[in-house]
Amino acid sequence: MNDRGFRTGVISAAILVLTLSSEMHASWGIEREELGQVLKIMPPNGPAEEYGNVVMRRSSKKSGMPPVVFPHWSHRSRYACRVCHAEMEFAMRSGGSGITREKYLAGKFCGACHNGTIAFDVKDGQSRQCYRCHIIDMTALSNRFRNFAAGLPATSFGNRIDWGAALAEGLIAPQKTLSGGTSLIKAPETLQKPLDLGTSAPRSSVSFSHREHLAEMDCSICHPDIFNIKKKGTRLFSMEINVYGQFCGVCHMRVAFPMNDCRRCHRGMGNVSSGF
Ligand code: HEC
Ligand code: HEC
Ligand code: HEC
Ligand code: HEC
Ligand code: HEC
Ligand code: HEC
Repeated sequence: MNDRGFRTGVISAAILVLTLSSEMHASWGIEREELGQVLKIMPPNGPAEEYGNVVMRRSSKKSGMPPVVFPHWSHRSRYACRVCHAEMEFAMRSGGSGITREKYLAGKFCGACHNGTIAFDVKDGQSRQCYRCHIIDMTALSNRFRNFAAGLPATSFGNRIDWGAALAEGLIAPQKTLSGGTSLIKAPETLQKPLDLGTSAPRSSVSFSHREHLAEMDCSICHPDIFNIKKKGTRLFSMEINVYGQFCGVCHMRVAFPMNDCRRCHRGMGNVSSGF
């Protein structure tokens, strides 16, 4: 993050804390101390075009290639999360998949699609496009992001795209499978109703909808690695741990709308969108 971005973030976080502690505290019904704790650790929102980009430099660096930038925004508009994180073997953790040139040239990972048919090729030769992945200059990719985002419903956080609305309005229609073989799992009757995950503080209630998440995901993406399958069975579940990238924060600090967007989870909270 650049210096200016960081300063702006710190300043707006400070303003936010002031606003919250004076006028919002009363209406939110959350302990001031608790709220302050959350806000103190919340990172500022970075540039929209970089949110969800995974930068890979582990093996590239050793061989003198520029780092690879994997943009989620571009891929999630074309494929549901499950295609890569359930059907294929991509880890939901930066560096977790162990991608190498040997493996992707053999048709694994990126090479399953970047084969010259589905998407531009990984192979060497006349139409080599090494530097579309091994990125030296982000300008072209950032410009494509801006063109893409301009046509979609906006929010104030993360990519500043309302992905849920874009999907619901049919502005994006991500492919649900790569092979065409399997189809999405429907939420069973018992999971149609959203779960209420709040704490005892009056307005901390969080509604978690299985149905909405299953539009892009399989059960195995969340259970049992991220969440215990019993309601309230996930140990040490708290806002602070979420912000550090666990539980909801696995996705909601890195790819899906970030935790800064308090109101989208805590429907009862005031709007703090001017902040981060
Ligand atoms: C085209 C494939 C693809 C799609 C579709 C995709 N991802 Fe990913 N995802 C990746 C790759 C590649 C990585 C990086 C893995 C690595 O570094 O080993 C990744 C990493 C992640 C990470 C970890 C990021 C980090 O910084 O540690 C999260 C969280 C994640 N994905 C969530 C999602 C969600 C949620 C969706 C659907 C909205 C999604 N992904 C769709 C390929 C994909
Ligand atoms: C499930 C299929 C799929 C997988 C897996 C996949 N991609 Fe892509 N990728 C695409 C498609 C389709 C496009 C857009 C078509 C094109 O530009 O040829 C694309 C475009 C891109 C772009 C250009 C984005 C833009 O809009 O300018 C980059 C960079 C990229 N992929 C990197 C990667 C990397 C790195 C991996 C592996 C970590 C990967 N992709 C895995 C399908 C995939
Ligand atoms: C679709 C995206 C994509 C394209 C196109 C691509 N690469 Fe890669 N490349 C990767 C990824 C992902 C890695 C692993 C990055 C890491 O972890 O550092 C990688 C790693 C490498 C490495 C590191 C050594 C190793 O064994 O992993 C070399 C060398 C390399 N690529 C060369 C090339 C060359 C040369 C081209 C063009 C002919 C090319 N790449 C095109 C995605 C791509
Ligand atoms: C995006 C993540 C996610 C996905 C995908 C997901 N779940 Fe869950 N699930 C949760 C969370 C969060 C809870 C609540 C955990 C807690 O309170 O500790 C939960 C709780 C449950 C519960 C307990 C409900 C109750 O009322 O006690 C069941 C049963 C369950 N999930 C089944 C499934 C099945 C079956 C699927 C696939 C069809 C699935 N889940 C997909 C996140 C997910
Ligand atoms: C495996 C990834 C993942 C996990 C874990 C996850 N989510 Fe999500 N969630 C998503 C994605 C992807 C969306 C679609 C919207 C987006 O990408 O911004 C979404 C959408 C939502 C929405 C809909 C918001 C709207 O206005 O459309 C809510 C609310 C939500 N998540 C709450 C939660 C809560 C609470 C948890 C933890 C209990 C959680 N999520 C865990 C990936 C995840
Ligand atoms: C992606 C969903 C999500 C977003 C966004 C989110 N929260 Fe939470 N929040 C949760 C969950 C889940 C819990 C824990 C509920 C539980 O323990 O059962 C929680 C709990 C809390 C609590 C209760 C105390 C604690 O630490 O558990 C406070 C206070 C809180 N959140 C404040 C905030 C504030 C302020 C923001 C915005 C800056 C925010 N939250 C954004 C999901 C979210």
